[in-house]
Amino acid sequence: MKYCLFLWLFLLVGMVRVQAAAGDVIRVSTAATDLIFRVGTDGRLYQAYWGERLLNDSDLGCFSGKSAKGWEVYLGSGMEDYFEPALGIAHQDGNMATLLKYVSVEKHEIDANVTETVVALRDEVYPVEVKLHYMAFHRENIIKAWSEIRHREKKPVRMFRFASSMLYLEAPRYFLTEFSSDWAKEVRMSSQELQFGKKILDTKLGSRAAMHVQPFFQLGIGQEVSENHGKVLVGTIGWTGNFRFTFEVDNLGNLRVISGINPYASDYELQPGEWFKTPEFIFTLSDEGTGKASRDFHDWARRYQVKDGLGERLTLLNNWENTGFDFNEEKLLALMQEARHLGVDMFLLDDGWFGNKYPRKDDRAGLGDWDATAAKLPRGVGALVKGAEKAGVKFGIWIEPEMVNPKSELFEKHPEWVIHLPNRELYYFRNQLVLDLSNPKVQDFVYGIVDGLMTENPEIAFFKWDCNSPITNIYSPYLKEKQSQLYVDHVRGIYRVLERLKAKYPHLPMMLCSGGGARCDYEALKYFTEFWPSDNTDPLERIFIQWGFSQLFPSQVLCAHVTGWGRQPLKFRVDVAMMCKLGFDIGIAGMSEEEQLFCREAVSHFKRLSPVILQGDFYRLVSPYETNHASVMHVAKDRGKAVVYAYDMHPRFGEKLFPVKLQGLDPQKKYKVEEINLLPGKKSRLRENGAVFSGDYLMKVGLDLLTTAHTSSRIIELTVQ
Ligand code: DGJ
Repeated sequence: MKYCLFLWLFLLVGMVRVQAAAGDVIRVSTAATDLIFRVGTDGRLYQAYWGERLLNDSDLGCFSGKSAKGWEVYLGSGMEDYFEPALGIAHQDGNMATLLKYVSVEKHEIDANVTETVVALRDEVYPVEVKLHYMAFHRENIIKAWSEIRHREKKPVRMFRFASSMLYLEAPRYFLTEFSSDWAKEVRMSSQELQFGKKILDTKLGSRAAMHVQPFFQLGIGQEVSENHGKVLVGTIGWTGNFRFTFEVDNLGNLRVISGINPYASDYELQPGEWFKTPEFIFTLSDEGTGKASRDFHDWARRYQVKDGLGERLTLLNNWENTGFDFNEEKLLALMQEARHLGVDMFLLDDGWFGNKYPRKDDRAGLGDWDATAAKLPRGVGALVKGAEKAGVKFGIWIEPEMVNPKSELFEKHPEWVIHLPNRELYYFRNQLVLDLSNPKVQDFVYGIVDGLMTENPEIAFFKWDCNSPITNIYSPYLKEKQSQLYVDHVRGIYRVLERLKAKYPHLPMMLCSGGGARCDYEALKYFTEFWPSDNTDPLERIFIQWGFSQLFPSQVLCAHVTGWGRQPLKFRVDVAMMCKLGFDIGIAGMSEEEQLFCREAVSHFKRLSPVILQGDFYRLVSPYETNHASVMHVAKDRGKAVVYAYDMHPRFGEKLFPVKLQGLDPQKKYKVEEINLLPGKKSRLRENGAVFSGDYLMKVGLDLLTTAHTSSRIIELTVQ
């Protein structure tokens, strides 16, 4: 016991390495959570505790005597545990068993808020070593876990399992919420109770990887997931490719959660001495439901993960929903004037501006040939950049650099750069194929697309980076006999490109897009300032989509554009888009004077309030999954300002309405209630408009924000008096 306390104090000091001893206790903690490991008498490392942070350091000693429960922190395979392992290696002699024992632990104080714990394990029979990394973000209550694997066998070994992390839970019941989807119906939330056996959330799509299920989940521990109560694990994997979460309830009713790259068709040949680094599994354990977990994720993401996470964002006018492929220079210059008139920061040119031998007049040709189509844009991108400058807006441009149409000069010149089977007929997803990013020459090419555009037009202020196809025809001409590494090496190739681009253009904002929201993981967001959640911009659908993504991502990274989808009232469309990063993708010229004025005023409200909307604390108040309405709010960090949104979707005739109770305000302060975003000439019908209430009243009694009118909405600004 004494030894353990001494060890713990020692670890607190930081930057120390401690060698193994049976009974050692390793503590990974945030302000709210403790994850505690213990070395068993058999020398293996076990998870001893994971839950609310323990108050007394002296209690840590209690774990050293606790008997092992079979909860090995990074379970190898082929030994006496019959459930899903974290690590599987076919050794050079064909033996499939791996058993890891604890070696040492190191602690690094990255700064006052972040501590990294690195636990070393090794197999005593085969020269295999593993380092388990746990980076704890104290204030935000977030932990990132990943592993590194290396061996020194004489020849390469084949890894068939290589999880990022493995965690155990013990509760009477477990309820999993998944975010499964397809194009235009992203992040549909559904929950189920886990029973004996496995539930797997995974993808095999390769590039447009999250088209059917997102790389994140919520897990209610002991009870169903709820917004403000109960213990919940929220987790996500930072991997822009095939991922897999395995939830396995064992014979004793314990649950193991294994996260990582999907090992499907991905056996990895690891060379002697080579480190294999897994992606990061990022998670939080909340005792106050998903609302708290979301706010912790948002704070952490803005501060530590997202590119320029604390920076400002550009409002914009996009042309995709307005013109599709049908535009020319004149039309675009006119749209830039519209952008100016609207008051947004930027005009964003979408798909269809490139290709000459095979012009991109629809999605059947031109991908890969990144020169402006002379027939459409005779003076090239340069003239557009100048046009934007003249109009007083910035200029952004769409690319889909990882893809190629077979009808392109690129495919004619470099078929060997394209993932496709040499001995079968080609099949296509959106008439295109995926470039082989495992090939360094292809990486250079993709890097060169952005770099080339930027070199010629340094004024380009923004990129929208699209990815419309999963990997099809799965064969890499570059990897030859190592085909099972394609899924992993392809994603690593993308990161290499993105890393180079970030190094050269550290402040260039970029939107991640994947035929809507099929790519939105936290590793990609190191390189992107925002992402496109869905092509579905019908506000009735968007409420659900934004609600779903808000579980993990701050409003600042969720692009929301006003379009014609759904033909809902303009105010409803704008009010829904204003919940996230506002943009427009609609012809302004076709609007009435009044509508234009309304949009201009909305842009100016959004800009004025964007520190609250994009950087504040987010509260989900009324769920569209449980009612015919929805309501959310953002509260400034100093609680001096808040913006509340209320949406009536499809209320029933004469349905019972209820006041919306606000959250996150200072109960002692007085707030003035003002409805904003009113249509020109319209007065607020909100009974409480203009009145002043205490934060306490607003949170306990609430405001009558809901009505029985279909697709109606209101936005309320609260200001401390
Ligand atoms: C899919 C994206 O989600 C859309 O916004 C648009 O950019 C199209 N691709 C262009 O092809």
